[in-house]
Amino acid sequence: MMTFPLDLIHFLKKAARVAVLTGAGVSQESGLRTFRDAQAGLWAQYRPEDLATPTAFARDPKLVWDWYAYRREAAKSAHPNAGHFALVEMEKLIPELTLITQNVDGLHRMAGSKNILELHGNILNVRCSECGTFAETWEDDPESVPRCKKCGGLLRPDVVWFEETLPRDQLEAAVHATRTCQIFFSIGTSGVVHPAAALAHAAKAEGAVVVEVNAEPTPLTPRVDYAFHGKSGEILPELVKSVWGNENRFFSDESFK
Ligand code: APR
Repeated sequence: MMTFPLDLIHFLKKAARVAVLTGAGVSQESGLRTFRDAQAGLWAQYRPEDLATPTAFARDPKLVWDWYAYRREAAKSAHPNAGHFALVEMEKLIPELTLITQNVDGLHRMAGSKNILELHGNILNVRCSECGTFAETWEDDPESVPRCKKCGGLLRPDVVWFEETLPRDQLEAAVHATRTCQIFFSIGTSGVVHPAAALAHAAKAEGAVVVEVNAEPTPLTPRVDYAFHGKSGEILPELVKSVWGNENRFFSDESFK
C-alpha cells in the first residue's frame, strides 16, 4: 500500500474543483503504445510526427489512413485499466472534476468518465477531409482510401494532427477548468506538446496545487507540488483508497474481461 503526503490527502478530501490532464501513459497499461514509444511492426520505420500531419495525408493518404486504421483496431480491442477506473471513481467523489485528455483512444469514456474534453479528437470517429461530414460506415479497400458518400472527398480520422488547431470549444473549456481548479493533475503525459503542455503551468499560476503522476520525470516535474513516478494504473487506485477509503471501490470492470 502506497502512502501519500497527509496535506495532499487533506486537499483532495476538501477539493470542490479538480482538473485532470491525461496523455498516452494512462493507456499504456491497456496495451496501447505511447507516442514516444517505438512504433511496432511495419510502423516501426515511421515516427508519429511524420504520419499525424495534413502534409503526410496530402502526400500519401493511404499510408496515413492505414496507420489510423491499425491504431483504431488496437483502440477498439483495448480495455480501460485501473487508472481509467480510478479517475471514474474520483469524478464520483469530487463535486466538479474535468477530465482533459490528449488521448484519442476513447478509453476514458469506455471506463465511464462523463465530463471529458477530448483535446485531440477521437480515433474511433471518421469524417470527410473536404466537407467534414462524419461517416458511420465506409467501404475498406486495400488499394485506396474510403471516400465521403456525400461529396466524394477522402475520409480521415477525426483527430487533431500536428499543424492543426485544437477544437475551440474543447480548448476553451479546458482552459476554464484549468484556471478555476484547486488541484490540477498531469497524468501519463510527457508534457512536451502544446497547448496541452501549458495547462499545468496555467493552473500553477492561478494558485492550484499541481500533482504529476508519470512513469518518469518530465520537464514539468520541477514545477509541481507533488510528483509520483510509477504506473498510473497502480498509483491512482492507491491514491483514491488513501483519500476516500477502500469500501466498494471498482478499479476493474469484469464486463471488459
Ligand atoms: N503510467 C504513467 N505514465 C506512463 C506509463 C504508465 N503506465 N507508461 C508511460 N508513461 C509516461 C511516459 O513516461 C511518458 O512520459 O507517459 C508519457 C507519455 O508521453 P507521450 O508518449 O509523449 O504521450 P503524450 O504526452 O500523450 O503525447 C502528447 O503528442 O504526439 C502527440 O497528439 C499526440 O496526444 C499526443 C501528444
